Amino acid sequence: MKINSAKFVVSNQDVKKCPSNHFPEYAFIGRSNVGKSSLINMLTNHKNLAKTSGKPGKTQLINHFLINNEWYLVDLPGYGYARVSKTQKAKFQKFITRYFEQRKQLICGFVLVDIRHDPQPIDTEFMEWLGSNGVPFAIVFTKADKLKPKAIEKQVNDYKEALLQTTWEEMPPYFITSASKGIGKEELLGYIDEINKS
Ligand code: GTP
Ligand code: MG
Repeated sequence: MKINSAKFVVSNQDVKKCPSNHFPEYAFIGRSNVGKSSLINMLTNHKNLAKTSGKPGKTQLINHFLINNEWYLVDLPGYGYARVSKTQKAKFQKFITRYFEQRKQLICGFVLVDIRHDPQPIDTEFMEWLGSNGVPFAIVFTKADKLKPKAIEKQVNDYKEALLQTTWEEMPPYFITSASKGIGKEELLGYIDEINKS
């Protein structure tokens, strides 16, 4: 799929204030610093559409970006080790939870995990929670430029094994990406395109 336009629309902390039209949307979620905002920039060919930072905790709101005037990419705050206060973290958690529970336009959540990390409860428990709330999701491994192909394969296989040992009967759809090298772009956009057309 070709991205002809990508525009920032609105930021907020309240799912009720998200755009009210019925365009399909795809949200990026995962630990702080995993590369959610960078991936949105990579997919849309923009350097600074979504704000990124080396310090965890950069994205603090629900951000809607309108793509090709037809669908949205949604950048969310990270969960996990963001250097923000406990109160702030609890606040994030509340509006992120509400977003996933209430947003009817959400077609698929992309749960980002750093390819270098072994499966962590914070991520696998979040996937379980999405599953139990009936929210379709796919896994996006990020920062693939940091590992050699063999190591990537091992990490993905370990992840599969870990998930199959929990409640999952099969590995959810997954993508291997690098925002800095453009890896996985066609696959991810192709996946979204297929869903939008169906
Ligand atoms: P929060 O908004 O804080 O939750 O973080 P985020 O998940 O949006 O991460 P962000 O895109 O801001 O990136 C965090 C850091 O990881 C930045 O220093 C990026 O340059 C770096 N980064 C993101 N994607 C990649 C990647 O594919 N490869 C490498 N090597 N670094 C990356
Ligand atoms: Mg971010």
